[in-house]
Amino acid sequence: MEQVRGALLWQAVAVYLVLLAYLPAACATEWIQYPADGFATMTHYELPPNFIAACGCTTSSTNFPTAAMNQMAYGSSASYGPACGRCFNLTLLNTFNSNPPFYPNVTKSVVIKVTDLCPLSEDGWCDATPTKTNAGGHYLNFDLAWPSTSIPDDFFPSDAALYGGFFDFGVWNISYQSVSCDSWEGWNNAAALGSVADLGYTACCPDNPTGNASNTCTSYSDQNGLPPDTHTSFASIVVIPQSLWILALLLPVCYLS
Ligand SMILES: *[C@@H]1O[C@H](CO)[C@@H](O)[C@H](O)[C@H]1NC(C)=O
Ligand SMILES: *[C@@H]1O[C@H](CO)[C@@H](O)[C@H](O)[C@H]1NC(C)=O
Ligand SMILES: *[C@@H]1O[C@H](CO)[C@@H](O)[C@H](O)[C@H]1NC(C)=O
Ligand SMILES: *[C@@H]1O[C@H](CO)[C@@H](O)[C@H](O)[C@H]1NC(C)=O
Repeated sequence: MEQVRGALLWQAVAVYLVLLAYLPAACATEWIQYPADGFATMTHYELPPNFIAACGCTTSSTNFPTAAMNQMAYGSSASYGPACGRCFNLTLLNTFNSNPPFYPNVTKSVVIKVTDLCPLSEDGWCDATPTKTNAGGHYLNFDLAWPSTSIPDDFFPSDAALYGGFFDFGVWNISYQSVSCDSWEGWNNAAALGSVADLGYTACCPDNPTGNASNTCTSYSDQNGLPPDTHTSFASIVVIPQSLWILALLLPVCYLS
């Protein structure tokens, strides 16, 4: 009897070790894959001048149009991710939270460089996951650093007469195009390109990333085995079904590796 129990225990240990071998795959985070051009939402946030944001781009980058991207598309839950340094042409289309929706009679566009991470939140506009869009029906949100010395104060159209003196709709439906960073306003300003040297390997801000591994950042959180910041889904796990107990054993190891 004791021998049988011992054999079963060793069998269980063997299974556990085999599963551990597959850990890197089990722990890899699934990020949002998005097409080069498409639709997104745009919000705006205040980024103090000369601030060093998540990617670690130079402080001078704040003198030009920049934006944060929602975490699961940015590709990392901390520091830099594959979106860092990428440039997009963003065009305002319409507001949709206002009543009625607002379709401006002017076309406003801005070419931004991604320098910051907009954390995954349970109810914000950066809450999209690979399986769930945000409240605007999009997988991408660009959080524009605005006001900015490089973007006119009247960048966001309004119609105060129609909307009772209301000027800032906060959230816009936009179209985005991936563009070469040579069309970014900061391109000809050497100080605005690259990353903060002092940060060493914790910064990654390529001048003009194309998705090619030689010029595009990896995911800092994947690279360092950081748990993905997925508190939205973790919070909803209350009971672990018996059939998933072996996965529960793996979870703590993800945090340590
Ligand atoms: C950005 O988009 C607008 C609107 O489609 C277009 O007029 C403009 O030429 C584009 N800019 C770049 C640099 O692609
Ligand atoms: C955003 O604009 C696109 C293109 O006009 C449209 O198909 C989509 O319904 C709009 N989404 C919202 C939330 O307004
Ligand atoms: C565009 O709309 C604004 C208000 O939304 C209005 O004041 C302006 O006259 C309009 N311009 C044109 C060219 O229709
Ligand atoms: C990646 O970029 C490097 C340097 O620009 C280039 O030599 C290489 O051919 C590129 N590889 C691919 C797959 O595009």
